[in-house]
Amino acid sequence: MTNIILLGPPGSGKGTQAKLLAERISVPHISTGDILRAAKETELGDRASEYMNRGELVPDSILIAIVEDRLAKPDCASGCILDGYPRTIPQADALNRILSGLDLRIDLVINIDVPDDRLITRLSARRVCECGATYQLTFNPPKKEGVCDLCGGALYQRDDDTEESVRNRLLVYKRETKPLINYYENLGLLTTIDGSGSIKEISDEIYAYVQ
Ligand code: AP5
Ligand code: MG
Repeated sequence: MTNIILLGPPGSGKGTQAKLLAERISVPHISTGDILRAAKETELGDRASEYMNRGELVPDSILIAIVEDRLAKPDCASGCILDGYPRTIPQADALNRILSGLDLRIDLVINIDVPDDRLITRLSARRVCECGATYQLTFNPPKKEGVCDLCGGALYQRDDDTEESVRNRLLVYKRETKPLINYYENLGLLTTIDGSGSIKEISDEIYAYVQ
């Protein structure tokens, strides 16, 4: 059983790496951003998108309820990879409570470190597909412009990948989420990896570490 948190600023590659690692070690990939985006046209989705489009965090109470519900599902019994949660100290404290109630614990926290200028470059040219695939026009382009390699769907830009929203997401990360680096370091769970290499290099490094 392996419960892993991927920590890192917006654009650091949490989603990209969580997906690859989840396939390699056969555990579910839980992205709270994806869960909120998938809730569009529901009351939750409408409420969340007001925060998300501005690059603000959605309130802790909403996220804690989402994660509590998701971790109780049977597929998490063999472990999971958390991408984008926790993002605040109260969310981390709640996660400890939720996991201990399920007789589970966090095994490892991987902090993906990428310089700010590279984050902005990555996010401004990110394109995504409804099927969950993510591309980057320079580093990881689709074979055919605007079309998903995996499902043939039309690629689009996320509503929060505007320059203004990206800048705010970085500020919010530094204020609210970065303190989790010390939090997990103090618990002896943190390892930091350099996230500026290629997707494959980073994936291999994470996999070797997890093994
Ligand atoms: P979320 O969806 O989690 O967004 P984020 O944290 O801002 O992170 P991103 O998804 O933008 O980046 P990523 O690290 O996953 O990078 P990716 O792999 O895509 O959250 C969105 C919003 O939802 C939040 O702002 C908030 O409002 C709300 N929310 C979610 N969780 C919440 C919570 N717990 N509490 C409160 N609110 C919450 O990679 C980025 C790009 O770079 C891609 O184009 C990719 O192809 C490319 N790339 C990846 N790796 C490399 C590489 N090694 N080299 C070159 N390019 C690369
Ligand atoms: Mg992501």
